[in-house]
Amino acid sequence: MGKKIVCRCNDVTVEDVEALIDSGVTDIEELKRLLRIGMGPCQGRTCVPIVLGILARKTGRRQEEIPLPKARVPIRPVRVEVIVGGDDE
Ligand code: FES
Repeated sequence: MGKKIVCRCNDVTVEDVEALIDSGVTDIEELKRLLRIGMGPCQGRTCVPIVLGILARKTGRRQEEIPLPKARVPIRPVRVEVIVGGDDE
């Protein structure tokens, strides 16, 4: 069976996430920093909910109890129409 990818942007697998949680990393911010989940072009639209689900299952918490990772503002100015999708640049 192939790899089960949770973050397509950064090629992170379920096994990568579970291994870190098993090693004691149970903070979503730390998982984000170590695995770069949520830091790809989609900004975590796909992987963050999946990782939150894995974290909830592995730690016995409800997913709603786990805070979302902090969103960072762009490091350089971006035109509003780019953010809202009105421009392909
Ligand atoms: S799928 Fe993880 S940042 Fe895009």
